[in-house]
Order: sequence, then C-alpha cells, then structure tokens
Amino acid sequence: MRKPIIAGNWKLHKTLAESRQLAATLAKELSSVDHCEIIIAPVYTALSGVAEEITDTPIQLAAQNCYPAETGAFTGEVSPLLLKDAGCRFIICGHSERRQLLSESNQFINHKVAASVNAGLGAILCIGETLQERETDQMLEVLTTQTREGLAGITTEQMASIVIAYEPVWAIGTGVTASDQQAQEAHAFIRGLLQGLYNQDVANTTRILYGGSVKPNNVDGLMAQSDIDGALVGGASLKAEDFIRIVRFE
Ligand code: PGA
Repeated sequence: MRKPIIAGNWKLHKTLAESRQLAATLAKELSSVDHCEIIIAPVYTALSGVAEEITDTPIQLAAQNCYPAETGAFTGEVSPLLLKDAGCRFIICGHSERRQLLSESNQFINHKVAASVNAGLGAILCIGETLQERETDQMLEVLTTQTREGLAGITTEQMASIVIAYEPVWAIGTGVTASDQQAQEAHAFIRGLLQGLYNQDVANTTRILYGGSVKPNNVDGLMAQSDIDGALVGGASLKAEDFIRIVRFE
C-alpha cells in the first residue's frame, strides 16, 4: 500500500563532477528498479547537472533545503520554484543539522514545507529527538511538537505530497543506529499522530522513512518493520555500492 522510498542525502559533499559521476553510476545500476522510489539530494550547485544524468530513470532529484518565498530580496536563498526549475521533485525540510547548526524553528520549517507543496513538490519533513531528550523521557513530546508544528496548515489533500523522516539525532552520522524495535516504536507513534491530526487514511498512506546510520548491513532489519517505509541515508549514500545495496533491501 505504501511504496517504499530510499533517499540519499549527500549533505555538503562532492563537486559537480563527482556528483554527476555518482548519479551516472546510480542511473545505470538502478535503471530497472520498481519496488521502491529512489531519491538523491546533492548540493545546490550540482542539482541541474545531476538532473541531466538521471533523466528518464527511476531516480528522482531532491534539494536539501529551500527558502519559503517565491522571489525577492533574500540574498543567498533559493526558492522551491527555482529548485523545481532545476529538476527537483522533493525538498528535504527541517533536517536536524539545520535545526541545530542554523537554529531553524518548527515554524520556519513549516513555512518551507508549505512553500514546497505549494510549488508542486514533495516535502520530506525531518523530525527526531536528541539523546538528551530521549533519556529524559521527552521523546514523544518532541516528536509530537515537531510533527504538529511542522505540518501546521497542511491540508488532508496536501498530505499526499508529504513524507516524514524520523531521524533520531543521536543516530545521525554516529554509526549508532536505532534498533529495529526502537525505530518501529517511534514510527508507529508518528503514524498515530498523523491519524489524530488528519485521519486513518492519511496515517495509512503517508510514508515514514527512518534515518540515522542506515547501512547495507542494517537496512534489511529496519525495512522489515511494519511502519518503516524507507530510509533517508547520509554517509552510505555517498558510495554507489552501498547505496545500491540499500536500494536493494530485502
Ligand atoms: P547518516 O545521515 O546516514 O550519515 O547517519 C542520515 C541523515 O542525516 O539524513
């Protein structure tokens, strides 16, 4: 019922030439994949070059961020419309690195989600607790607030364009993955939130991805969980071989 998504977040890695090369390898190796959607998110400067490499393949392009305005005096920012123009189908909103390093608030992230959807793009809303929040029993509260505020004003119909990524901050880039059970529990909780905020149909159809040290050796166990609908992959998405194995989860 929910087609899985495997998404690669390349973060601040790779030149244009390196990005094109990786995209070309993925395009060749993954040309016949149909069991899941594949998304890659290079840096802004590589977007249109990568778009050329993945034309007419199952691989879709995403941006790692956007600014929630169409045009205007916003020096240094890039709008969803321009990202769409560059070939993007999705925008990652509210990644924990941006929440932490750039102090992005739930409200600002919500504006990005809305701007992405209004531009006709999908939004991948990232949520997740820090280690301290988990250890002090604030995890459910944090996930609730991030979900509710991140989706404020998003209608039931617009939820078809939303993907949630649960990324426990303590598992990102650390090599520590949430256990299958920990991830499944969080995902089931988030699905329950969607039911409360919207309805059973939205809860049943919204894809919830897990992110945080997803690797070839742990993806199968995570993907076997009933509420895990895919992965948002950082480090392991930079190596063709690893990402291809993750896309071919069993
Ligand atoms: P990681 O990053 O796979 O390197 O932990 C995941 C992410 O930040 O999306």
